[in-house]
Amino acid sequence: MIPYGRQYIDEKDINAAVETLKSDFLTTGPKVKEFEEALAEKLGFKYVVAVSNGTAALHLASMATVHQGNKVITTPNSFLSTSNSIMYQKAKPVFVDIEENGLIDLNLVEEELKNNKIKALYLVTFSGLPFDNERLKYLKEKYGVKTLLDNAHYFGKDEGGCDIATYSFHPVKHITTFEGGAIGTNDEKIYKKLLRLRNHGTVKDENMYPWEYKMVDLGYNYRLSDVACALGLSQLEKVDMFLAKRRQIAKYYHDNLPEKIKPLYPYNEKSSYHLFVVRYPFNSLEEKAEFFIKMRQKGIGLQYHYIPINQQPYYVKKRYFKKFPKMEKYYLEAFSLPIYYSLTQKEQNYVIECMEELL
Ligand SMILES: Cc1ncc(COP(=O)(O)O)c(C=O)c1O
Repeated sequence: MIPYGRQYIDEKDINAAVETLKSDFLTTGPKVKEFEEALAEKLGFKYVVAVSNGTAALHLASMATVHQGNKVITTPNSFLSTSNSIMYQKAKPVFVDIEENGLIDLNLVEEELKNNKIKALYLVTFSGLPFDNERLKYLKEKYGVKTLLDNAHYFGKDEGGCDIATYSFHPVKHITTFEGGAIGTNDEKIYKKLLRLRNHGTVKDENMYPWEYKMVDLGYNYRLSDVACALGLSQLEKVDMFLAKRRQIAKYYHDNLPEKIKPLYPYNEKSSYHLFVVRYPFNSLEEKAEFFIKMRQKGIGLQYHYIPINQQPYYVKKRYFKKFPKMEKYYLEAFSLPIYYSLTQKEQNYVIECMEELL
């Protein structure tokens, strides 16, 4: 089976994890800090907090960003966690339609900002494509909103001056720590809050009794283990190679896809290509499903990202249901092709051939 995404683990990764398994620390130990510092360097943030998964990262980032009743603009085209993290805080998502490239439409975002009292923008660098950073800076300054980037698909430096960014290290992502995630920020106050929230909302200092800790916030156990961080450090050494290969695969699809299958956007060196999304004008979702099943019979596991979040039963019950014209068209037409480090050109050719035959 050729899946749409998968991890790449080598002997070095295995040895790094095994070495930590043999050490004194399985949970919080030296590898956590080392991993956080390496990530901070790579992602260009002053501070990084490693957490147990990308959803936990969004939850804590949300706790540091919005409060009950705040309105938060976000995209219907993401995994559930993005808008769920708004709901966890009892804040209110304001869904806005997407552009042709799958990202939230910043023109429509500005319309909402003009007409509504908005606290924050929760933006997803969907598929790995960064936003127009100058536009983001302008919106942030003009409307005084906080910006949170869900960078589960993007791996690189933020140049849009976001307040906080979250990452996921699920196996299909750029690097993996089994389950895992991280939060980046340049704000020391937010950083300290995140550290507390990750560990039950507790603090400890040298003036306390040796056994003492104080709980000052309602936090969680969202820690990432030392074994996972050791794996993360080893994966991080390969991330440039992983990204280069993803871009190479993307370029090859661009150059070799049949005319009728259109890439989501022109080849873009800045994209980290977590996903390679294409469009085809299916007549119905049934026709698209039939194509998926036939491709699966040929050993190719296509995926689709994402069902509009605001059309999920929970969101419908909460009265967020809305049909956005661009999102609807995207849902009908888009699907994600296999893209991962170990995908070979022969396999890519096979994917292309099968699509050509079936469409
Ligand atoms: C855009 C986006 N946000 C958040 C998440 C959640 O990450 P995790 O699965 O690590 O909790 C994902 C994971 O699929 C994602 O794709």
